[in-house]
Amino acid sequence: MKKKISVIGAGNVGATTAQLIVQSGIADVVLFDIVEGMPQGKALDMAEACPLWNSAATIRGTNRYADTTGSDLVVVTAGLARKPGMSRSDLLHANVDIVRGACMEIAKHSPNSIVIIVTNPMDVMAQLAWKTTEFSCRRVMGMGGILDASRLAAFLAWELHISPEDIEAVVLGGHGDDMLPLPRFTTVKGIPLTEILPKKKIDSLIERTRNGGAEIVSFLKSGSAYYAPAASTFQMVKSILLDEKRVLPCAAFLNGEYGIKDIYMGVPVILGEKGVEKIVEVKLTKEEKAQFRKSSATVKKLVEKLSI
Ligand code: APR
Repeated sequence: MKKKISVIGAGNVGATTAQLIVQSGIADVVLFDIVEGMPQGKALDMAEACPLWNSAATIRGTNRYADTTGSDLVVVTAGLARKPGMSRSDLLHANVDIVRGACMEIAKHSPNSIVIIVTNPMDVMAQLAWKTTEFSCRRVMGMGGILDASRLAAFLAWELHISPEDIEAVVLGGHGDDMLPLPRFTTVKGIPLTEILPKKKIDSLIERTRNGGAEIVSFLKSGSAYYAPAASTFQMVKSILLDEKRVLPCAAFLNGEYGIKDIYMGVPVILGEKGVEKIVEVKLTKEEKAQFRKSSATVKKLVEKLSI
């Protein structure tokens, strides 16, 4: 029997993630939203594309959590997206209620599931999801680092006029503004980036990556990025579902790793069928450590403010 994945929130990120899963054929999908008819319509549309995608996966849209029962994996994208001038933290209060509500339903209907949080501010929402579901921290994680790394890789590929496939960008820390890119571990076919580009150029591309989400919001006017966020989420889904054990940067619960305790932070992890199977520790320089601590302090402050 195929595995069952529920996607909570059938907006841009949720529907695109559902599409990638269904198109790949690796699992059956339930697409949930509070808006009546919308997930049903999108699901029917995707189901009608399955013959063209050569996919035997099924997809069903719903407004009832009962239909998500027994999911192996749940992706949470429900919430409000950023508008121009809004930071991810501005979304906080509205999204806290939405994510908490969704997680209570996930715990009730899919007690053995693995949960991937996409809703922003993602690091804080991952912590909220872990607290609300009371699942093992191995089974609750956030999507962010893959997206930041992919954005950086895209900009580097344009700068160097090479295929992005040959770029391995390494990014840790909080998602977006607080990210901690590691140029000395970022490589072009194994060659450190620091040997290929001058520091000034690297810094400018990192700055563009840091503002990558906002750059797209300013073009779109209403709504935020979703193709790359969905592709990043799909990479996590695939590594877990197929037990690929890929090393991917995700928001994971730190229990002393990187000198940080009791907080979700973006770090490289091994993702497999059990969820976060191992946190990979990279030796950081003094400056990098300070930046990582600063990034975690921002998340911690928000977590404390919300008494999560
Ligand atoms: N339960 C389920 N779905 C909900 C709920 C809820 N309580 N509240 C809102 N939603 C749904 C909305 O109806 C909408 O369809 O969540 C969906 C969000 O979709 P979009 O507005 O298109 O936002 P999207 O671009 O998909 O972003 C979703 O992911 O990347 C992050 O910052 C982004 O937090 C945002 C989230």
